[in-house]
Amino acid sequence: MSDDTILELSKLTKYYGKHRGVIDLDMSVKKGEIFGYLGPNGAGKTTTMRMLLDFIRPTSGTSKIFGLDTKENSLALRHRIGYLPTAPALYGDITGKQFFEYCANLKGGCDWDYVRELIQRMECDIDRPIDTLSHGNKQKLAIVRALMHRPELVILDEPTTGLDPLIQNEFEKILRETTEQGNSVIFSSHILSEVEELCDRVAIIREGTLVAVEQIADLKSKQVRRIEMSFGNNIRSELFEGIDGVKNIIINENKLKCDIVGSLDSLVKVVATQHILDIRTEEPALEDIFLAYYEGH
Ligand SMILES: Nc1ncnc2c1ncn2[C@@H]1O[C@H](COP(=O)(O)OP(=O)(O)OP(=O)(O)O)[C@@H](O)[C@H]1O
Ligand SMILES: [Mg+2]
Repeated sequence: MSDDTILELSKLTKYYGKHRGVIDLDMSVKKGEIFGYLGPNGAGKTTTMRMLLDFIRPTSGTSKIFGLDTKENSLALRHRIGYLPTAPALYGDITGKQFFEYCANLKGGCDWDYVRELIQRMECDIDRPIDTLSHGNKQKLAIVRALMHRPELVILDEPTTGLDPLIQNEFEKILRETTEQGNSVIFSSHILSEVEELCDRVAIIREGTLVAVEQIADLKSKQVRRIEMSFGNNIRSELFEGIDGVKNIIINENKLKCDIVGSLDSLVKVVATQHILDIRTEEPALEDIFLAYYEGH
């Protein structure tokens, strides 16, 4: 483990009986990183995270956090990790305020100025019984709980479900600040645009196996996007032939549909000579990204 590696998985494998959880995961996360963990439903994201917290045990392989084996040192590690599970268990009949006091007492105190700051920035409602809060408002309490002890590593399992865009933005700022202070974040998602904005690197997992671990910039250069454009006049197909990365061109009178790999720059320069009415781009499906990888390897 090099000095700045805070997490290292080595051949980490989990079978639930005969059912595949994850297979032979090898990857590492560095101090100060926001590390994205991207994969579709059932890929193995939650399974991996639960093994890191020692809630479930691997079938084979090892995981280390801060150089310590996660099975042998789970109690010590839990003091240094903040975890947001997919379906956080909160105590329903108490208020958010009582809940945070309870969490603080469990750990022998906390920095209340920081907790108040988190509560205010995440716009938490801490005066009503947790049971009576909406899904998104419960999620915000669970996020504050994961962060309130300033953990050295924050493990977040699909944290943005239910957050509105403004709060999501504030949450991402908080995560960036925590990594600027030398802490690290692992963030699972099945939405590429979300990890793309926030993360330094991303691991892509599919059917329990790692497909790739990439810098975000490298991932973007392989990204396929579907583009649809309308023009003020009919357009000629010759215009779009031979542009870097452009494939599957369909032209219908004044409308263009195509797929583009990587940068939009060369296409935009060609269409700039035309009268453009509308441009739409679609988020690539994760499946398309996987295909791009398989074609590339
Ligand atoms: N307790 C369990 N018993 C049997 N199989 C399980 C169990 N938990 C998970 N699995 C299986 O392990 C695989 C990985 O599931 P996991 O929940 O880790 O995926 P995920 O990437 O978190 O998916 P999602 O995006 O839906 O949350 C799936 O095939 C799932 O059916
Ligand atoms: Mg999951």
